[in-house]
Amino acid sequence: MTHEDFPAGKVWLVGAGPGDPELLTRKAERLIRSATVVFHDALVGPGVLALIPPGVRRVHVGKRSGRHSKDQKTIDRLIVEAALQGDRVVRLKGGDPSIFGRSTEELDACHASGIEVAVCPGVTAASAAAAGLGMSLTLRGTARKLTFVTAHARAGEALDLDWQALADPEATLAIYMGKAAASELSVRLREAGLPASTPVALIENASLPSERHFYTRLDLLGLAVKTSLGNGPALVLVGKALARRTEPTSAEGHAKSVDCAGFAY
Ligand SMILES: C[S@@+](CC[C@H](N)C(=O)[O-])C[C@H]1O[C@@H](n2cnc3c(N)ncnc32)[C@H](O)[C@@H]1O
Repeated sequence: MTHEDFPAGKVWLVGAGPGDPELLTRKAERLIRSATVVFHDALVGPGVLALIPPGVRRVHVGKRSGRHSKDQKTIDRLIVEAALQGDRVVRLKGGDPSIFGRSTEELDACHASGIEVAVCPGVTAASAAAAGLGMSLTLRGTARKLTFVTAHARAGEALDLDWQALADPEATLAIYMGKAAASELSVRLREAGLPASTPVALIENASLPSERHFYTRLDLLGLAVKTSLGNGPALVLVGKALARRTEPTSAEGHAKSVDCAGFAY
């Protein structure tokens, strides 16, 4: 199945969403089915990868924190080379390509080589996390601002964030790649003025059958991450809006939510 928006030699940066293939856009699915080569991240769900037609070349260029199988420049080069060879290239990225997805480097690399490139958006992890919790990230009169922030620091470097701006009691923080820095986040946000009792929700493997939720408070965030989370990707949500918790259950009817030690807000 080809389409005029996907000629040979073009690159599409495609948002794969948080994992559940049903959260793919129809356009993303069409592009995946039209590609001749798919370069994908480690966080692209198996159900999404299963949509790649048999015989289509797939290249795992997975990057998980601390385990970079291919560096960004190599990925840029591979995509460009495939397009120059006349492939219809899908670069499949977890969530939305424009949110902590290094899409700028790949767009620049394509532009520099005169390659046609476009972006297909995806459902970002924060949206899937909120849906899984059955909560809203914003709350009329309580959480008027939503901040997406990454707590990923370059190896050996301290986190360089505007803590004062982040410690806004009227905001919800959606913290991507926050596991390693959880203790530092807890300390620095409290130093900047957020109360120790600020509600926190941790969502692991959002939208996948293995999705888990953990509720805690800001002063216990470091402990909660160490004792509760597994190896899956996790999002840290911080703010008063998270106090309005509900109790979603899994498809099998099991509670997915766990209170971490000392929970009380
Ligand atoms: C490199 S960022 C990519 C974010 C992606 N572009 C997006 O829009 O969701 C990877 C981080 O996203 C978050 N993440 C991605 N998928 C997730 C999921 N299914 N559940 C929870 N967090 C997820 C985690 O914080 C993970 O460390």
